[in-house]
Amino acid sequence: MLFGCSEGTSPNVPAAQIPELPAHMPPVPFPADNPYSAEKAELGRHLFYDVRLSSEGTISCASCHRQEVAFSDAPNQVSKGVHGARGQRNSPMIVNAAYNPYQFWDGRAATLEEQAMGAFMNSIEMAADTMAVAALLRGPDYRERWQQVFHDTTVTMPLAMKAIATFVRTLVSANSPYDRYLRGEVDAMTPVQIAGMRLFFSERTKCASCHNGPNLTNNLFQNVGLFSHYFDTGRYRVTGDHTDEAMFKTPTLRNVELSPPYMAGGDSEDGELMTLESVVEHYDKGGKPFGNKDRRVVPLRLSKDEKASLVEFMKALTDRSVLTNPRFAKP
Ligand code: HEC
Ligand code: HEC
Repeated sequence: MLFGCSEGTSPNVPAAQIPELPAHMPPVPFPADNPYSAEKAELGRHLFYDVRLSSEGTISCASCHRQEVAFSDAPNQVSKGVHGARGQRNSPMIVNAAYNPYQFWDGRAATLEEQAMGAFMNSIEMAADTMAVAALLRGPDYRERWQQVFHDTTVTMPLAMKAIATFVRTLVSANSPYDRYLRGEVDAMTPVQIAGMRLFFSERTKCASCHNGPNLTNNLFQNVGLFSHYFDTGRYRVTGDHTDEAMFKTPTLRNVELSPPYMAGGDSEDGELMTLESVVEHYDKGGKPFGNKDRRVVPLRLSKDEKASLVEFMKALTDRSVLTNPRFAKP
């Protein structure tokens, strides 16, 4: 009861719960109306992995966000939901999603609670039957755990989503070779990775003008010229503003090595982007002509070694402890 029960505050995850948040990572923000508790995160973990939450009893959050690939659905371009239905977008890694000011490639959900409800109700993701789920949560498998967390037997879907969102907020990654390097372990990255890091943060490539901060994202919407015609209109779907057409959220690059294919649609006009090399190649060419393409995406004329060093730097963002952390695993 030390943490998180007072109204109106935004308690941070206690250090004991998260594998050492290094000083360069901000504390994990928890909303005032859904403060952290260890019991709630644990309830959320059970729900995250429970296929009985979907209408067919086959799909859980973890079907499309698998721990062994940093909670993405690599190497699938799009994911299969209930009845084998497929969505249009690539499943993002949801590690460090707690830091996102909004969720999804187009930013349509403001909070992780809203996001979880979206996936849970979505007809091609889980298509939840809320009556059946409420019965499950009132039943012997969940009754005690639920009461411990909410001090009440009343089961509602928004409360269940609060528990899931709490678990998702604990999925923090900050122990990659790059993090260790930032903490002063100069040998944590290879010389090639260090050269790649300098290039990544340089004016020449401008990668870090969009991929910056502790999560290597500016959390803004941009277009990087993957197509000259977009079927998926991205942020425009949310705002209806043509200046947002085919704009997508800059994704985090943490653990990016583990989550091919790349980009919102998992592809480009030239085909699937299955490797980091192909992504660097895309940026080096400067992308396709498109009205909303960001001005920073222009031909870079990098040498072979420079391209390889950028790829190696991105591999230094892989935090393997996330893949094996028992607190993140299937209960
Ligand atoms: C059928 C596959 C599928 C299932 C099941 C699923 N997701 Fe997702 N998830 C996706 C896809 C695809 C996206 C990206 C969609 C978009 O941007 O429009 C996504 C996006 C997200 C995001 C946003 C991450 C970001 O960086 O914007 C979070 C968080 C998330 N899912 C958590 C969950 C949780 C929690 C559940 C269970 C309640 C869940 N997902 C169930 C496929 C799935
Ligand atoms: C103008 C802002 C901007 C610049 C500059 C930029 N990026 Fe990106 N990056 C984005 C956006 C936005 C996306 C998602 C685009 C999409 O899905 O259509 C992205 C996607 C990516 C991805 C795929 C991540 C995933 O999970 O799918 C990688 C890898 C990447 N960028 C690396 C780089 C590198 C390396 C550079 C420099 C050579 C760079 N970016 C420069 C904004 C930018």
